[in-house]
Amino acid sequence: MPKTTDGRPTPRLHIVSHPLVQHKLTQMRRVETPSERFRQLLTETSLLLTYEVTRELPLGTVQIQTPLTTTEAPELMEEPVVVSILRAGNGLLDGVLRVLPSARVGFVGLYRDHETLEAIEYYCKFPPLSGRTVIVLDPMLATGNSASAALERVKADDPAAVLFLCLLAAPEGIAALQAAHPDVDIWTAAVDERLNEIGYIVPGLGDAGDRIYGTT
Ligand code: URA
Repeated sequence: MPKTTDGRPTPRLHIVSHPLVQHKLTQMRRVETPSERFRQLLTETSLLLTYEVTRELPLGTVQIQTPLTTTEAPELMEEPVVVSILRAGNGLLDGVLRVLPSARVGFVGLYRDHETLEAIEYYCKFPPLSGRTVIVLDPMLATGNSASAALERVKADDPAAVLFLCLLAAPEGIAALQAAHPDVDIWTAAVDERLNEIGYIVPGLGDAGDRIYGTT
């Protein structure tokens, strides 16, 4: 990881500009897109985002037997662990697990206090994270409060590397997350204009949990 002059890691923001991702995101933004279609699009998009976020996973070399000969071939040393921030993070999980089928999955439950916008934890269950690469999932990086709290919980278990994967990010959330966790790379399909006065991303797509599960 690159370092700043004071020795701190330089936070990296990756925007996945692939046309398929951008097209699907536009369909998810549309207010008339129903939950069933929204979920389907989110699964398809998370599959494509996983392809990008796993780009730098370390490969080892193994000796294998093909039908013709033995050869050395690259293989993932171990699959990353995935941590979903409940509940909207689960909307990304299906797609991620299609690409990483044997990944172990942790959950952290956080809700936003509607007055302070602070993240309050109500649930946490992780598989062993020590020494592993952990991909933390939440479709919306808004204030950054839930993401920061989740990353703190994850880092307490001493992972080797932590990546944050979302669908949409607000500039305010990116700044907050990069300040609190400069060692965590952020992957997103888009960075929107701003947060509104109640912490929603604008133009955004509304409340991701409500859009996924049909609640209001
Ligand atoms: N969470 C959401 O689901 N949507 C937003 O716009 C912000 C936070």
